[in-house]
Amino acid sequence: MQRLKIAEILRTEPVNTSVLVKGWVKAFRNNQFIALNDGSTASNLQVVIDLENADPAIVDRIKFGAAIGATGILVESQGKGQTVEVKAESIEIYGDCNLDEFPLQPKRQSLEFLRENAHLRFRTNTFSAVFRIRHALAFAVHKFFNDRGFYYLHTPVITASDAEGAGEMFRVTTLPLENPPRTEQGEIDFSEDFFGRSTNLTVSGQLEAELGALALGDVYTFGPTFRAENSNTTRHLAEFWMIEPEVAFCDLTDNMNLAEDMLQYVIKYILENCAADLKILEDRLLEEEKSKPQDQRSELSLTEKLHFVTENKFERLTYTEAIQILKDSKPNKKGKFQFPVEGWGTDLQSEHERYLVEKHFKKPVVLTNYPAAIKAFYMRQDEPLEGVPGPTVAAMDILFPGIGEIVGGSQREERLDKLKQRMHEMDIPEKELFWYLDTRRFGTCPHAGFGLGFERLVQFVTGMTNIRDVIAFPRYPGSAEF
Ligand code: 4AD
Ligand code: MG
Repeated sequence: MQRLKIAEILRTEPVNTSVLVKGWVKAFRNNQFIALNDGSTASNLQVVIDLENADPAIVDRIKFGAAIGATGILVESQGKGQTVEVKAESIEIYGDCNLDEFPLQPKRQSLEFLRENAHLRFRTNTFSAVFRIRHALAFAVHKFFNDRGFYYLHTPVITASDAEGAGEMFRVTTLPLENPPRTEQGEIDFSEDFFGRSTNLTVSGQLEAELGALALGDVYTFGPTFRAENSNTTRHLAEFWMIEPEVAFCDLTDNMNLAEDMLQYVIKYILENCAADLKILEDRLLEEEKSKPQDQRSELSLTEKLHFVTENKFERLTYTEAIQILKDSKPNKKGKFQFPVEGWGTDLQSEHERYLVEKHFKKPVVLTNYPAAIKAFYMRQDEPLEGVPGPTVAAMDILFPGIGEIVGGSQREERLDKLKQRMHEMDIPEKELFWYLDTRRFGTCPHAGFGLGFERLVQFVTGMTNIRDVIAFPRYPGSAEF
C-alpha cells in the first residue's frame, strides 16, 4: 500500500478507505491513542489501537519518540480535537525509543538544552515549526524574485577579495600549518597555495552580483556567507545565509521600494501559508514572555506583529535626522544609553537602532545617507547635502523591531573616477579589483542592491529570540558542533 503523508490525510474526507501512515510517536494515551507526527504538518494524526486484537509485545514498544507505521481505516473521529483518525489494523515498529536514554522528554525543555542537542531538536514542535517556516520563507524569496524577472546567480563561496573591506574573513588554505613555504622576506608564500594566492570564505556575493546585473539586469544571490567577527550576540552567526539582489538602472529610492516590497511579500506569504506553525510559535513566545517583567513584554502577539509590518509603510529618514532624534531622546539625556550619542559621524549601536524602531517610531525604519566614513568603499557618494556636516553615501539600512538591522544596502558608485578615488582613500589596491573596475570602464550604469540577513528574517517571523535557534546547526565563536 502507498504511504500517505499526514498533511495529505488531514485534507481528505474520511471515506472509510485503508491507509498506511508512518511517523514518530508524540504521545500514547491509555494504551490506545497514538498521536503520530511525520513532519509534513504541525498537526498530529490520531491512530487508535484495536485493544482486542493488538499484539501486546508491539503495544509495549509504542513509546514517545519511536518510529512506527500503521495500516488501518481512515474514519471520522469520535473524540474531540480532530476530525479524522485511523483505526489501526496493524502496527509496525521501525525504531524503538528508550526514554531512559533519549535526551528529549515529553515535556517542555529549555532552548539552551535543545541547542546542545541540535541533532535531535527537529523532533520538537517548536523546531519543526521553525524549520518548516524557514523553508517557506526561502521558497517565498525565490518566488518573489522569479515573478519579477530576476535571475538567481550563484556567486562563489571561495574568493580572493574582501567585499566589505572589514577584514573579518576565514582563510581557506591547503598550506601545511606547521611549516608553510616562506618568501625571501619571511612571509608566508601564498603563491604556493592551492589557488596560487591567498583566499578566504566570502563575506558577501555582492561584487560578483554587480557583474551579473550589468548584463542580466536584475539578479539575486541566496547563499551562505561567513564572518570571522567575534560577536557573541543573539543576532550574529559566523556562517549565515544572505539574499543579495542587484539591479541595473536603479537608484536608492527604487532600492528601498524593492526591499520593502520583498519583506512585506515574504511575511504575507507566511501569514497565508503557515498558520498552524505560526500558532505554535506564537504560543511559545507568549509563554517565554511570561517570565519577563510586564513593561518588557511585547504589546503585540507574533501574528499581530507580522500583520503590522505587512500593512504599514516603513518610516524613511536620513542618518542625520536619526542622530538628531537620538541626541534629543530621553534615554540619551538621562545617560541611559551604554554608548551616549554625541554627534554626527559615529556608527549607530544596536541600542540606538532599537530605540528608533521600538520606542520612537514603533515600526520598521529605513535609515539613509550615512556618513561615508562608516560605510563600504562601493557606495555611491552623495552631492553635499544641506545642513549635513560631512560627506555621505547613498546607503540604506532597514531596522526591524526586536532585531535591529535586517537589511543593509546602497546605490553603487558607478563613476570610475569617484570609485578609484574612494578605493585609494581606503587603501584598496586597484589591481585586486581590476575586474570590478572594468564594469565602470565599459558600459557602466546607475545600479543598486542590498543584503538581507536570512536568519534575522527567520528570527523576526518565528519570534525566536536567539539567532542560533533559526539555523539548523549554528556556527559561532567556540562552536562548530554537528
Ligand atoms: O550590512 P552587511 O554587512 O552588507 C553587505 O554584506 C552588503 N554587501 C549587502 C549588499 O548590499 N549586497 O550585511 C547585510 C545583512 C545585514 O543587514 C544583516 O541582516 C546580515 O546581513 N548580517 C548578519 N546576519 C547574521 N550574522 C552576522 N554576523 C551578520 N552580519 C550581517
Ligand atoms: Mg550593515
